[in-house]
Amino acid sequence: MISDKMKAFVNGSSAIRAMFEDGKKMAAIYGAENVYDFSLGNPSVEAPEEVKQAAIEVLNNTSPNVLHGYPNNVGFEDVRLAIANQSNKQHGTSYTENNIVMTTGAAAAINILLKSILNPGDEVIVFAPYFGEYKSYIGNYDGIIVTVSPNTKDFQPNLAELNSKITPRTKAVIINTPNNPTGVIYSAKTLSTLADVLKDRQKEIGHPIYLISDEPYRELFYGDFEIPFVPDFYDNTFIAYSYSKSLCLPGERIGHLTVNSKVDGFDDMISALSCANRISGFVNAPNLWQKVIPKVLDCSVDVSIYKKNRDTLYDILMELGYECVKPDGAFYVFPKALISDDKAFCDAAKEFRLLIVPGSAFGCPGYFRMAYCVSHETIVNSKESLRALKEKFSR
Ligand SMILES: Cc1ncc(COP(=O)(O)O)c(C=O)c1O
Repeated sequence: MISDKMKAFVNGSSAIRAMFEDGKKMAAIYGAENVYDFSLGNPSVEAPEEVKQAAIEVLNNTSPNVLHGYPNNVGFEDVRLAIANQSNKQHGTSYTENNIVMTTGAAAAINILLKSILNPGDEVIVFAPYFGEYKSYIGNYDGIIVTVSPNTKDFQPNLAELNSKITPRTKAVIINTPNNPTGVIYSAKTLSTLADVLKDRQKEIGHPIYLISDEPYRELFYGDFEIPFVPDFYDNTFIAYSYSKSLCLPGERIGHLTVNSKVDGFDDMISALSCANRISGFVNAPNLWQKVIPKVLDCSVDVSIYKKNRDTLYDILMELGYECVKPDGAFYVFPKALISDDKAFCDAAKEFRLLIVPGSAFGCPGYFRMAYCVSHETIVNSKESLRALKEKFSR
């Protein structure tokens, strides 16, 4: 018999599981090409060829004892150093291998960090709309999720409300930029004001408020601008990074946690993270993929494919009269639902063979998410279904 706590987790994720089943059923009835499945954030672009070549080279040229043995729980030193050096080159940091903990993706990076810092009842603040899994990650360690309501004007975080939500139990704040589900990138002004709030309030409450910047989409942006580097604004910052999206490797489970040098209690934190990696059962990030990373640090997926999808989908939505903030990054768009009940709206979309996710799954009812990491053809062909859905609610 499963635990009560697990029962709640299972029930909480049933909507997305149900959608996955619906997609399979609809594809069997109508043919996969006639179902417009925008529900999942699974990269549609292939991993760069260099990744495959690097994996072959690692397999051919690494001693089996090293390749298949247990490494340090925080990962191989040479791999961590290469990642630290890349950050130093890109962001002017002075990181060493000690700032990097290799993880099985961003999900594990966030989990080992929360495991390391949360006592039961501690609060973690998130900004709606947020990646729905945060709720479970925080719940894993008996933390309390505290949600800041959405700023639907531009989906930059609502910082006045953040200030009012901080209490002596606040241990951490999670941000995600470029954002899932909105595609919005947090501006330097946002980060600077956010940092000012946290600096003031951590001084007042007398213990650190850690900022967890979840950045699996850092490389996916569609314009001629820089994505601000969060540790430039706030010392107590961790970055949860992943190669799931930047190199299209979500099934390989490889990423890392960057621990900024000025994080409060740095040495204890690294020991805790190493231990958390082990006792959570991750033990260490997979060796093969760790060893691949230094060889492909300068590679990225062909972002122009996602940009073309973004442009086409956004233009279709605008032409049909949907309302949404234009996404600058990641591969999601987050339009307003045409009725206030976003779940009923997404159910109605199935009538037109459209699979879209209710905003409630991201703590933001009244909206819906479309993941445009699909073929360009799917986007073009979905136009008539999106039109029919609009007409259904315009009558
Ligand atoms: C915002 C966000 N954070 C974390 C993750 C988890 O990524 P990973 O595959 O690196 O664990 C995802 C995956 O979709 C995501 O969208």
